[in-house]
Amino acid sequence: MTSTRGLEGVVATQSSISSIIDDTLTYVGYNIDDLADNASFEEVIYLLWHKRLPKEDELAELKQQLSDNMSLPQEFLNHFKTYPIDKVHPMSALRSAVSLLGLYDEKSEDMSDEANYAKAINLQAKIATIVTAFARVRKGLEPVAPRADLGYAANFLYMLSGKEPEEIEIEAFDKALVLHADHELNASTFTARVCVATLSDMYSGITSAIGALKGPLHGGANEQVMKMLAEIGSEENAEAYIQEKLANREKIMGFGHRVYRQGDPRAKHLREMSKQLTKLRGEEKWYNMSIRVEAAFTAQKNLPPNVDFYSASVYHSLGIDHDLFTPIFAVSRVSGWIAHILEQYENNRLIRPRAEYTGPGMQKYIPIEER
Ligand code: CMC
Repeated sequence: MTSTRGLEGVVATQSSISSIIDDTLTYVGYNIDDLADNASFEEVIYLLWHKRLPKEDELAELKQQLSDNMSLPQEFLNHFKTYPIDKVHPMSALRSAVSLLGLYDEKSEDMSDEANYAKAINLQAKIATIVTAFARVRKGLEPVAPRADLGYAANFLYMLSGKEPEEIEIEAFDKALVLHADHELNASTFTARVCVATLSDMYSGITSAIGALKGPLHGGANEQVMKMLAEIGSEENAEAYIQEKLANREKIMGFGHRVYRQGDPRAKHLREMSKQLTKLRGEEKWYNMSIRVEAAFTAQKNLPPNVDFYSASVYHSLGIDHDLFTPIFAVSRVSGWIAHILEQYENNRLIRPRAEYTGPGMQKYIPIEER
């Protein structure tokens, strides 16, 4: 038995949700460029869960279901006051909160299709409220209740700031949600599938996935990109900073990918959004700095930027706290995780690979006093 480090190139399952073929990303056969330019996040949720685009009444029904389920019970919100909320990372808070959400759902152990769909709606609807309520409570602010007249992206921004977002902000945020919704068998999606393939419940699957997304080699990279840009501080420092990091053999966050070779097709959309939004805010330096970092890095390494690189300056321009960038990734990706969990349940088999053993040969047990 020989192993493949990091399962590189291993095809671990079949899926008809999203594909990456020759550096082209599709959701259910629709090119991500097409979806980014035309589809709303709610349409994409429907597409991923039902494997077809919704008709008008179906989309309206999904929007209504999400809207009806966004509010969090007060007892749930009270939990935020039971731990040192200003000291925990929002991804850790989100991981625990989603696990807690399962305890409030009387049907969490019901594995019927109806119960699983209700859980899907509950998770997708409430994850936005959890992230925004946490962000406010830790600053000593009251959570803002969702508004029935706002769509998913607008509601998120509204619940975060308490102010009605501008149209350009809603459009940008909605597009970012579309771009992050699914991505074949990425680490967190694989984690979710491994978890529920034991026939565990959906809340367990999503909790596990959030834990996997948190790491800086995966979703956690977007927060690290912003940290790097803040450290660089000004456009002129970009080249020297990158040279020094590479000389120390450090990784530059937001670059490289396990699957893409020529480039991540999502990055160009975020680059353009970063250009527009930083200009609108009069903070072009973040975009200009990002461009110089990209040029300096790619001059040395043939590794193009991934989805996380330009999303950092996009979210910063929307006035979002930097440690909320990865939770926002989760708010979007939960749609993909749910699609994969439902697909796994439909045709389940336990996921249980093998390990190539590299430890010592057969040994004889030595009593403790003789060691
Ligand atoms: N900066 C500098 N060197 C890099 C980078 C980078 N960002 N990415 C890869 N390399 C180098 C790496 O040092 C190694 O070089 P060598 O062979 O000389 O040791 C080579 O490229 C292969 O790297 P690897 O880490 O073995 O590649 P992988 O396929 O296991 O990792 C990756 C893919 C995305 C984890 C990696 O490119 C990386 O760590 N990037 C930075 C973190 C990041 O941006 N993650 C987000 C990924 S995309 C969206 C998401 O999942 O959230």
